[in-house]
Amino acid sequence: MCGIIGITGGEETLDVLLEGLARLEYRGYDSAGLAVLPATDGGPLWRARAANGTRSLEDLVKRTEDAPPGSSTGIGHTRWATHGRPSEANAHPHVDCTGQLALVHNGIIENHLELSDELVLAGHHLESDTDTEVLAHLIESELGTHPEAGLVGAVRETLRRVRGYFAIAVIHSGEPDLIVAARRVSPLVMGLTETEAMLASDIPALLGRTRSFLLLEDDQIAELRPGSIRVTTLDGTEVIPPLRTVDYDLDAARKDGYPDYMSKEMHEQPMAVANTLLDRLLPDGTLALDEVRISDDELRSIDKVFIVACGSSYHAGLMAKYAIEHWARLPVEIDISSEFRYRDPVLDSRTLVIGVSQSGETVDTLQALREARRWNAKVLVISNVVDSSMTREADAVLYTRAGPEIGVASTKTHLAQITALEILALYLAQTRGTLYPHEAREFLDAMGALPDKVETALERAADVEVVATAYRASPSFIFLGRHVGYPVALEGALKLKELSYLWAEGFPAGELKHGPIAVVEPGTVVIGVATRTHLWEKMMANVAEVKSRGATVVLVANDGDEETERQADAVLWVPETHQLFSPIVDVVPLQLFAYSMARLHGLDVDRPRNLAKVVTVE
Ligand code: F6R
Repeated sequence: MCGIIGITGGEETLDVLLEGLARLEYRGYDSAGLAVLPATDGGPLWRARAANGTRSLEDLVKRTEDAPPGSSTGIGHTRWATHGRPSEANAHPHVDCTGQLALVHNGIIENHLELSDELVLAGHHLESDTDTEVLAHLIESELGTHPEAGLVGAVRETLRRVRGYFAIAVIHSGEPDLIVAARRVSPLVMGLTETEAMLASDIPALLGRTRSFLLLEDDQIAELRPGSIRVTTLDGTEVIPPLRTVDYDLDAARKDGYPDYMSKEMHEQPMAVANTLLDRLLPDGTLALDEVRISDDELRSIDKVFIVACGSSYHAGLMAKYAIEHWARLPVEIDISSEFRYRDPVLDSRTLVIGVSQSGETVDTLQALREARRWNAKVLVISNVVDSSMTREADAVLYTRAGPEIGVASTKTHLAQITALEILALYLAQTRGTLYPHEAREFLDAMGALPDKVETALERAADVEVVATAYRASPSFIFLGRHVGYPVALEGALKLKELSYLWAEGFPAGELKHGPIAVVEPGTVVIGVATRTHLWEKMMANVAEVKSRGATVVLVANDGDEETERQADAVLWVPETHQLFSPIVDVVPLQLFAYSMARLHGLDVDRPRNLAKVVTVE
């Protein structure tokens, strides 16, 4: 799930590559590298690689004086290690035996071991432990056998032999104005100006350079030359992808004076929720979805819903299960995407499969949705990224309008996902006649109060920090919740472990006594979601169970709830809201808690170790 970039026709090629790589860092930052071609045919290409990510690469490039002057073509890469540890030798670009060809890759080449055996037998010298390097040598080999087909022909023949996923960019010093790019599953976008052509793993990496983009589809190959892009399929048929203009605001992706992206993005949550709610109610009382290619009749005929997602998006899906079952009276199954795909799920044309994905590119979810389509299920995607792979393939799309999220841990997109899913639950209920339109409208109106409540929860950041400081020495945390509080507990635990690297686990509070309570001992810190729901009394009984075994208890409680406060060692206060909307508010103090804890431990909240923002490997 690395980030790739390339440009041809530009004047400050190295600067463009370095700036783009810095913007792509959220996709991985184990190591980084770039290669540029000389201005004249046949000269050696120049490569720089650093084991510690884009900042070290930038330092390295600035210190070096041997970069070829006047280069207008180059490619770059920021890595999230899969095959081979993070090191300079494993950093991309990888080169062939001649040193004339360089290649960057995002994805996984599944048959790399058999291909590398074959290459070694043929006399190639492979230097890294990566799955990628075989591509450079296979292309070299094709070029040797069929030089008349040129670089694009050699890439085409190579890709026919490859199993797995890829977005690649290749340059060769024999064709100094050309970048050949190709994709299968892993994302790749291309940008165009009158004099330049460029590519990257996402659009923001190229914003500032162009607003005109083309999207490469699976098994297509692109030839990028200054001011032009030609696209063909793997079998050589030419295709003309539409040119799209984007109106993103690049400033939206900067920190706006916050110390890090995560705090900026947490503070944007009221806006993310408000924007996702905006204009959803049409004058005729129906709800407006983006890109609906499922008719109301088809929605009425749905008899089962599957939700597939990963990580925080999965937790948002889990929260929505309660709302869809309660309002729309539809059975909902929810699965982690990587499990769903391989477990032979029972689906047909009356099943609605909802994919929840901030990026719209997570390969586990993308493939799960493709599996669903294979069974003729209807596919609806909730995503934050317009024109992402999932949204392009879906029957219907509901966009979260959270704006670009750079911090690796999802915050504002998570709240926007829950909001979008609740809207969907109301839409399904209304379409299927399980709620009257006026009832759906009342619920939507009630949702209008959520941005202010989220704002109020955020204003308590300093109080949450005091609580985090009190428990900063604890090595582990147990999170408990019931009903919609259960996925809130799971999300609180995930945020804490990914940001602070502390052991944290979430449980349904009622399940604790069936095993996990054995780990509770004096001093264990238990964080419970104890806001006022119909299960509050049962939740408090579970809190009593851990307290009586000596646990220290921190409770998320509704403002002014003294009864809950009396049972707690510390309280994280939130405003009260309708039970089915409460995750949107109740998760906020748990995000703040994880954030404070990570900062207290001196950790980088935007770039937690071992993680990447977009996960395009299985
Ligand atoms: C956690 C987090 C991840 C993502 C997961 C799915 O903070 O961000 O768990 O939620 O990788 O990503 P998307 O939503 O892009 O499919």
